[in-house]
Amino acid sequence: MTSADGPDREPAPPEAEERRAVRLLVDEEAVQGRVAELGAELRADYQGLEPILVSVLRGGVVFLADLVRAAAMPCLVDFMAISRFDASEDTGVVRIEKDLELDLSGAHVLVVEDIVDTGLTLHYLQDLLKARDPKSMKTACLLSKPSRRKVDVQVEYIGFTIEDYFVVGYGLDYAEKYRNLPFIAILEQ
Ligand code: IMP
Ligand code: MG
Repeated sequence: MTSADGPDREPAPPEAEERRAVRLLVDEEAVQGRVAELGAELRADYQGLEPILVSVLRGGVVFLADLVRAAAMPCLVDFMAISRFDASEDTGVVRIEKDLELDLSGAHVLVVEDIVDTGLTLHYLQDLLKARDPKSMKTACLLSKPSRRKVDVQVEYIGFTIEDYFVVGYGLDYAEKYRNLPFIAILEQ
């Protein structure tokens, strides 16, 4: 049998297989240790509450999956997918590709993001979610690059503050690759 997806398909063009070298920035043990600390903080801060953790697809998913288990607290989880409306613009305006299923009104909301770079995306997202009338809203980010910030954005829980590197792994991608690395690495030029 011959099919486009079957074993007889043409090999992928070389550029599709190409992977750049990566240099370790935060090893797996350090990532897991920090996520455990953040989880403990969340459990203490949300004691007696059942927050809704909102994860932004796709980069935030690996962090969220480990964070909810580290926090080991009653919580709900929901997902949204966004894309920058106009990548060339510095407005941070995003298009909602997939909206949340849960109603945020009256809820304690924790946004879980992979990285704050310029802050534009998160700033816009926070405004958008605040308009849904949650009782409280906080944000957790695995990584922050403060030297890149264009807009002041509030982030209550930060995993690691890093220099201006392009990083991959632990959910973060370059051209959709490298998300499954259990550590955080700098993508070499
Ligand atoms: P911001 O609006 O500039 O803060 O962009 C944040 C988004 O850009 C993140 O949610 C990531 O999807 C992406 N991003 C920013 N820096 C990096 C990086 O170093 N590696 C991978 N993705 C990044
Ligand atoms: Mg992202």
